[in-house]
Amino acid sequence: MSHHYLSFDHVSYSYPDGRRALHDISFRIDHGEKVALVGANGAGKSTLLLHADGLLTPSQGKVVVGGIELTDKTVRLIRQSVGLVFQHSDDQLFMPTVEEDVAFGPANMGLTPAEIEQRVAGALAAVGASHLRTASPYSLSGGQKKSVAIATVLAMEPSILVLDEPTSGLDPRARRQTIELLGRFRHTMLVATHDLEMVCELCGRTIAMRDGRIVADGPTERLFRDTALLEACGLEQPCSLRRPATV
Ligand SMILES: Nc1ncnc2c1ncn2[C@@H]1O[C@H](COP(=O)(O)OP(=O)(O)O)[C@@H](O)[C@H]1O
Ligand SMILES: [Mg+2]
Repeated sequence: MSHHYLSFDHVSYSYPDGRRALHDISFRIDHGEKVALVGANGAGKSTLLLHADGLLTPSQGKVVVGGIELTDKTVRLIRQSVGLVFQHSDDQLFMPTVEEDVAFGPANMGLTPAEIEQRVAGALAAVGASHLRTASPYSLSGGQKKSVAIATVLAMEPSILVLDEPTSGLDPRARRQTIELLGRFRHTMLVATHDLEMVCELCGRTIAMRDGRIVADGPTERLFRDTALLEACGLEQPCSLRRPATV
C-alpha cells in the first residue's frame, strides 16, 4: 500500500439493536493530513473510528485504505496500516509490563526478536516513556497510560493514526505532553475529540458530526468561526478564536 489515504464512501451503520449510528458518511483523508472529528456525545465519532480500523464493518457503503477496500479478507492487512488508540487506555493495556504491551503488536506481526526490540525501544522513546519499560501498566498515571497506549500503536508503525479522545481525563500537564507528542508525528491522523483548543493546534481540517451525519468538513479555523454550526453540534468556540472584547 503506497498511498495511505483513508476514504469512507457512503458508509451507513446500524448497531445490532437497530440503532443507526452512521448515515451516509463520505470523506477522504490524504496522506499526511491531520483531521479532527468533532461533535456532541452520541454524534457517532467513536463508531466512525471503529470503522476506520475494521473493528466494525459498514451496513452500507465502503471503507477504503490505500486503495484496498476493507473486508473480512483484508482487515488484517489494513489493521497494520491503521493504528487505533482507544479512548480508555485500560482497553489497550493488558500485559503485566509496559514492554510486553508494546511488544504485543509487533510480535503478532511475526517480526523477529531483534526487530521487536527495536520497535519497543523506538516507540517508548517516541512517547518519552523509556523509563517506564518494566513498570506495570496498572501502576501508571492517566497521562503515562495514554503515552504507553500510543506507544503500543506506534510500535506497529501504522501509516494512519486514529485516536479517540486522546486528551480526555488528562490533567493539564499530561494533556500538554500528549498534544506535543501528537504534534511531533508526521503520520496521517484522525482524532475524535471535544478538545477544540487541541484541534486548533494540531489539525488543519475538521469534520463535524451531528446525529450520525457529517454536517461540515473544511479548514478548522473556518468551522470554528461558525458559531451557529458549533452550537448546532453542541460545541463551544475555543477561547483562542473568540474575538477580544472591545472596551
Ligand atoms: N454498542 C452499541 N450498541 C448500540 N448503540 C450504540 C453502541 N455504541 C454506541 N451506540 C450508539 O451509537 C450512537 C453513536 O455513538 P458513538 O459513536 O459512541 O458517539 P460519540 O463517540 O460521538 O459519542 C449513539 O446513539 C450511541 O448511543
Ligand atoms: Mg466516543
